[in-house]
Amino acid sequence: MEGNADMSNRLCFTMYERVFERFGEQGIRGSMLRENGEEKLTRLMGSLIQPDATLPLRILEIGTCQCVSAIILSRFGDVHTFDVREKPLTHELYQAFHETGNVYRKVIPDPKELRSEIRALLDTARFDVAFIDGRHTAKAIEKDFELTRGIGRLIFHDYWPHDERRARRFADVIAFVDGLQECRLTKLEPFVLWEPAT
Ligand SMILES: C[S@@+](CC[C@H](N)C(=O)[O-])C[C@H]1O[C@@H](n2cnc3c(N)ncnc32)[C@H](O)[C@@H]1O
Repeated sequence: MEGNADMSNRLCFTMYERVFERFGEQGIRGSMLRENGEEKLTRLMGSLIQPDATLPLRILEIGTCQCVSAIILSRFGDVHTFDVREKPLTHELYQAFHETGNVYRKVIPDPKELRSEIRALLDTARFDVAFIDGRHTAKAIEKDFELTRGIGRLIFHDYWPHDERRARRFADVIAFVDGLQECRLTKLEPFVLWEPAT
């Protein structure tokens, strides 16, 4: 059973602080923890929990990296997360910080095969939301969007129109989101929730 110290640690500190304390800068790298990422993603996910929602949610993630976002998303339900490679800290970080054990990770090196696997999963199971955080090129985002849009709710990461440096780095994400039509966008930068217009 979890000791009191561990429990209060889990309740009082942000994921950023906990990961940084344990793994340093290397643990934070590539994740969405900077600039209140945990709080923002939590708020956006919380907005999906309507009175008629079937819980736990079923969440699909493209781009696991070190598993930080998957751990945060798993507070809301079961997370199926995909990546083309495993990072050195993925397993250790997951072991250290997962709270619920409902993260299902898959690494498939070939992006084409990875998409087929996701397509097969979507054909057989209902999902409530997808978190799109894989390759950030225009082509890849477009493919991920077409693959998952049937879910009806997608959250894009790395929409940074008001941050000069990141706006350059993630120009394709910004252009893609800004070009989306006939939809409802809820922006909590750097996250954007996409839903089709009703
Ligand atoms: C920014 S990181 C994801 C960060 C993670 N979501 C988080 O916040 O903790 C992007 C990840 O996408 C992965 N990736 C790159 N190309 C991909 C592809 N075609 N399909 C899925 N994942 C891909 C990279 O290996 C990398 O781990």
